[in-house]
Amino acid sequence: MYVRNSHLRVGMNIQQTENLAVKPFLKWAGGKAQLIDAFERRFPPELTGHRLSNYVEPFIGGGAVFFAINNRYGFETAHICDSNEELALAYRVVKTNVDALIDTLGPMETRFLETPQEGRSELFYKTREDYNNNKEKTDFLNFQSSWIQRTAELIFLNRTCFNGLFRVNLRGWFNVPFGSYKNPRILDERTLIEASASLQNTEISMGDFTTCEKFIDSNTFVYLDPPYRPLNRTSKFTGYSKGGFSDSDQVRLAEFFKTIDHRGAKAMLSNSDPKNEDPDDIFFDALYADYLVDRVPAKRAINSNGERRGEISELIITNYPTNCSTSMQLSLSNNSW
Ligand SMILES: C[S@@+](CC[C@H](N)C(=O)[O-])C[C@H]1O[C@@H](n2cnc3c(N)ncnc32)[C@H](O)[C@@H]1O
Repeated sequence: MYVRNSHLRVGMNIQQTENLAVKPFLKWAGGKAQLIDAFERRFPPELTGHRLSNYVEPFIGGGAVFFAINNRYGFETAHICDSNEELALAYRVVKTNVDALIDTLGPMETRFLETPQEGRSELFYKTREDYNNNKEKTDFLNFQSSWIQRTAELIFLNRTCFNGLFRVNLRGWFNVPFGSYKNPRILDERTLIEASASLQNTEISMGDFTTCEKFIDSNTFVYLDPPYRPLNRTSKFTGYSKGGFSDSDQVRLAEFFKTIDHRGAKAMLSNSDPKNEDPDDIFFDALYADYLVDRVPAKRAINSNGERRGEISELIITNYPTNCSTSMQLSLSNNSW
């Protein structure tokens, strides 16, 4: 039977989560948890002095960076966005209805764990079917109480599916198979409550990254983490949402980066380094020639189904010099600062 952990309550924890890094409540492909340290060394110095009061993250995904820094740097306001409507809906529910979400997810966890291993996949596929069937009936723009059940199902599927992925087909249906984890933690009450507390200063948008333009001024730090440009042309993992992210979207994004720069905001962008595959591929070096392009080691899946993992380099692009900027990197760019 599910028993609510009653000493954890939203209001009580807002104070307690100050200065703390919070864990993401979803496992998300392309999550940046492993790169937080490399990012920290390259954050604008103004963050430590709390001199940037606004944070914007237009490709929020699982929010590894947002949750790591939103409390720590005391932003007064934050704006997050994703084109994935299910994700935006989940963030809104965690922000505004975390108690009801916990009360829905708890019994789902109990039922799953009390089901013998052989029956669990049936429970998974039934939940996946309900989740997909209810998509049409969901109004993603106006709050409905059914959002709470939907978010609980998303978290349940995320915790029990293969590799903890979120992937949809062209119809927008979640299509990841059952994952057969032994005892998955479906309800992580503390993480949900801390995430909810952290989101209280945050506005959540659903749509294209350009939606965030209106929230950006010279007091803003913007972190951009678009879908990866495929490492090779056969591994095109763009499964977060239906549309994918093409090279022309990358060009649009570079224009957006320029707009942010002209506003006087501080901006950091990460992406896969095409030089991992082809040393002559200067796609991003050319797009961001006016800015600082840094390379850091990262571990990640080399192909779309995650069979081959290895060390590759990841790009970190900033419109300001960082503590890690070498004179060579600075002289390679056009020194727009
Ligand atoms: C690499 S993931 C972000 C991962 C995130 N930084 C984390 O740590 O979990 C990229 C995200 O961009 C979203 N996305 C794709 N195209 C987009 C667009 N045009 N505008 C905004 N978000 C988009 C995807 O749904 C996905 O969640």
